Amino acid sequence: MTRILLLGGTSEASTLAKTLASVDMDAVFSYAGRTAKPVSQPLPTRVGGFGGVQGLAAYLQAECITHVVDATHPFAAQMSTNAVRACDAAGVPLCAFERPAWQAGEGDYWVHADSIEGAVNALPDTPARVFLAIGKQNLAQFAAKPQHHYLLRLVDAPEAPLPLPRTTVEIARGPFDVAGDTALMQRHGITHLVAKNAGGAGAEAKLTAARDLGLPVIMIGRPQVPERPVKGCVAEVMAWLSHSAT
Ligand SMILES: NC(=O)c1ccc[n+]([C@@H]2O[C@H](COP(=O)([O-])OP(=O)(O)OC[C@H]3O[C@@H](n4cnc5c(N)ncnc54)[C@H](OP(=O)(O)O)[C@@H]3O)[C@@H](O)[C@H]2O)c1
Repeated sequence: MTRILLLGGTSEASTLAKTLASVDMDAVFSYAGRTAKPVSQPLPTRVGGFGGVQGLAAYLQAECITHVVDATHPFAAQMSTNAVRACDAAGVPLCAFERPAWQAGEGDYWVHADSIEGAVNALPDTPARVFLAIGKQNLAQFAAKPQHHYLLRLVDAPEAPLPLPRTTVEIARGPFDVAGDTALMQRHGITHLVAKNAGGAGAEAKLTAARDLGLPVIMIGRPQVPERPVKGCVAEVMAWLSHSAT
């Protein structure tokens, strides 16, 4: 009997959940619980951390999980690392469902940063108006450059005071489009965009908008995670599931 744990938090995970539900696969969807109202899923859903590697390994056994699909965000490196280690320990096969990283094209002006700290350092010293499109985590590190005005786009309104002195908060949930992101950047007089290299279509519009507006993009590269099989589309994940189930 196949029973899948789907680690979610991305549009890829939601797409896969629809397919799994449509073919009546036995699967549990897992959210970290970072947003107040997560997108509802057509699968039984649990919310919250597992308690590290040991907690996840214990969960896999207690729930008789036979396969894990890690469809978390490419920057959710802790969860992805824990998943590899817990699956190793519990002898459960795992694959990642991950979108390819974005690549700079003609007309793009990208400055590559290998970490959040690198992105902070890449910002100019003179005051700028920065679209800090990195979600709500890691904002505090940008307090090292308090001279900038930061436009933040968040899913939920912040509950605590922000760690940056000059901010404007836009509450919105993707996917976003180029016309909307161009208008947003123009309205706020944006001079620099900071983005995580998430890949995928839902958050790509800001990059096209920045290119059209001739703005520099500080692109933060993906964190490293332990090696694991990676699938790039729903069909590949479904093939992996049926192959490793037999
Ligand atoms: N990082 C981003 O930029 C980003 C962007 C968009 C969406 N997300 C989504 O937001 C969630 C949290 O991201 P993060 O960067 O905070 O992760 P993270 O730093 O890799 O994970 C921190 C801890 O959160 C728990 N966790 C993370 N994802 C989980 C899931 N799907 N189900 C259950 N527990 C989970 C785990 O707790 P325990 O150790 O207790 O198990 C994990 O060790 C992820 O599901 C990710 O897909 C992240």
